[in-house]
Amino acid sequence: GNTDRLTDAYIKGLVERGHSVTKVYLGNMRIEGCRGCGVCQRLAHQCAVRDGMEDIYPLFAACDTVVMASPLYFWTITAKLKSFIDRLYAISVDDKYPQKDSVLLMTAGDDNDTTFEQPIRYFRLLNQALGWNEVGLYCAGGCTGCEKLARQIDKVHLENAYKMGLEL
Ligand SMILES: Cc1cc2nc3c(=O)[nH]c(=O)nc-3n(C[C@H](O)[C@H](O)[C@H](O)COP(=O)(O)O)c2cc1C
Repeated sequence: GNTDRLTDAYIKGLVERGHSVTKVYLGNMRIEGCRGCGVCQRLAHQCAVRDGMEDIYPLFAACDTVVMASPLYFWTITAKLKSFIDRLYAISVDDKYPQKDSVLLMTAGDDNDTTFEQPIRYFRLLNQALGWNEVGLYCAGGCTGCEKLARQIDKVHLENAYKMGLEL
């Protein structure tokens, strides 16, 4: 719920700024990892795996900005988000990818200097490799309350994400 709330706050800002947004909740979808079968590279750049990505590919093609949001799981992005990224291989042509602006939003229980080190490094490497242009990054640490480790996100993070959306 923390990441969802952070994302919704960001989207609220984007919508008020006049952007058109389609939110895709990977958590509820079946998104397999890439099988590395290579069929996509031989046949019209279509993925052989039939799952939720079939709905996402057209949305991805149409958008100018990809906002990826994830909780920190074992010091990096979730496997679900990584699967989505891996599956973009299907639409690559000679290792080239569609030009996009990109944003990363994250939440985590910890809140120290190195908490988001790995995903930030990966995000930047991904942008460089795919030719994407980073236009936003927000990492909300300290998203685990002390009461029975209940998850919660500070309002300040939601306000910051909202403002970031307004400024895109
Ligand atoms: C499987 C799992 C792994 C996690 N790994 C980390 C971690 O490595 N570092 C950290 O600070 N928090 C970690 N957390 C805490 C979550 O990142 C944090 O509570 C986050 O805000 C949860 O987001 P959500 O409410 O959107 O699921 C982990 C939580 C789970 C369930």
